[in-house]
Amino acid sequence: MTKKLFVKTYGCQMNVYDSERMAEALGGEGYEQVDSPEGADMILLNTCHIREKAAEKVYSELGRFRPLREANPDLKIGVAGCVAQAEGEEIMRRQPMVDLVVGPQTYHRLPKMVQALENGEKALDTDFPEEDKFAHLPKLRTSRGPTAFLTVQEGCDKFCSFCVVPYTRGAEVSRSAERLLGEARDLVERGVREITLLGQNVNAYHGAGADGAEWGLARLIREMAGIDGLERIRFTTSHPNDMDDDLIAAHADCDKLMPYLHLPVQAGSDKILKAMNRKHTRDDYIRLIERIRAVRPDLHLSGDFIVGFPGETEADFEQTLDLVRQVGYGTAYSFKYSARPGTPAMERDGQVTDAEASDRLQRLQGLLGEQQRATQDAMVGRHVRVLFEKPGREPGQMVGKSEYLHAVHVDGPAELRGQIAPVEIVESRTNSLRGRLI
Ligand code: 5AD
Ligand code: SF4
Repeated sequence: MTKKLFVKTYGCQMNVYDSERMAEALGGEGYEQVDSPEGADMILLNTCHIREKAAEKVYSELGRFRPLREANPDLKIGVAGCVAQAEGEEIMRRQPMVDLVVGPQTYHRLPKMVQALENGEKALDTDFPEEDKFAHLPKLRTSRGPTAFLTVQEGCDKFCSFCVVPYTRGAEVSRSAERLLGEARDLVERGVREITLLGQNVNAYHGAGADGAEWGLARLIREMAGIDGLERIRFTTSHPNDMDDDLIAAHADCDKLMPYLHLPVQAGSDKILKAMNRKHTRDDYIRLIERIRAVRPDLHLSGDFIVGFPGETEADFEQTLDLVRQVGYGTAYSFKYSARPGTPAMERDGQVTDAEASDRLQRLQGLLGEQQRATQDAMVGRHVRVLFEKPGREPGQMVGKSEYLHAVHVDGPAELRGQIAPVEIVESRTNSLRGRLI
């Protein structure tokens, strides 16, 4: 008899990928994924620990499952991801309803853990094991939509002073290029046309190549571009110091690599960048962007920003605004600094008041919003190529993504799904574009 599995995913794209793989691993145990927790036999929360109150949110979410558990005492409840890694056993202590706690590096052991649950035991695994989880996961079985994520690298050795990732995801590990090419071919056979290569520090990728040498990300991208049927490649997320010459060149000479780059800078003042342990200056970043734009002038740039880092003065913050004006972003994500347990920044003096941080965030988001709007409006009248993914909201409509990752709606037949077609942009809307097939 098949059992029902409900997975809820928080946080980054890597968690989205992990959730898919966990669902597949549980598929072998007879679990089939469903869209709602009501009536499920297992609920799995795949959690994120990057910003504040993450753990608290998980506990309150878990509390909401109590009626379901009371209605069905056999319901299994699991917590996966970075909160599981950070909190470990504490989760079961604080919320005895939880049967299973699994970290991001051990979910290939889920089948065994689930068997323990069936014997009425609890299961906890937050190791950083020697073995490669990907080598122990089942091969991809399910059919796929036109786009897919593929994790090529995990963990981070950068230790930005505000960030928990080096602790929750561990040291940088790259997967073997041969395995990745195999997985990419599998995805393409299942209908995938676009692959986004994922890693916490994806451009630090240095995996074992088919020729025995170590390959960087640019080499991996170029080899992947040789796969027939794969039309588009993207990667995220990157650190400025790992944008090497080869990767910059790939933006010019690899047709399948899309002209969109997420390259976080976090702040615009050298004093704050140093305190953040970013290991680059404002100028380094600006010059790097100039070099990439010199080879790929139409590049859409995206970034991450933190305001209110300890010690950030009004003058420091104005340098962030100034950098944004100088660089120009197509999209950006900005956050109020939140102190994370165990990170060096937590120990720093000069906490910025919440009111001050909120005010800065609002000003920064105002500026970034203007840039995003201007970038989108400038697309009107231009011709783009859209990879169609699914039906749009209105009947007879299809929606897909342009090279620049803008969502584009057109009137067109359902058969467009999975195809790339030329489109003229006719209108810029709040968070999408409208176009017509050429
Ligand atoms: N506070 C606020 N933002 C953070 N980020 C990471 N850690 C923190 C923190 N402690 C942001 C960074 C990073 C993005 C994924 O999340 O901007 O690039
Ligand atoms: Fe965190 Fe910095 Fe590593 Fe990004 S590069 S995951 S912000 S430590």
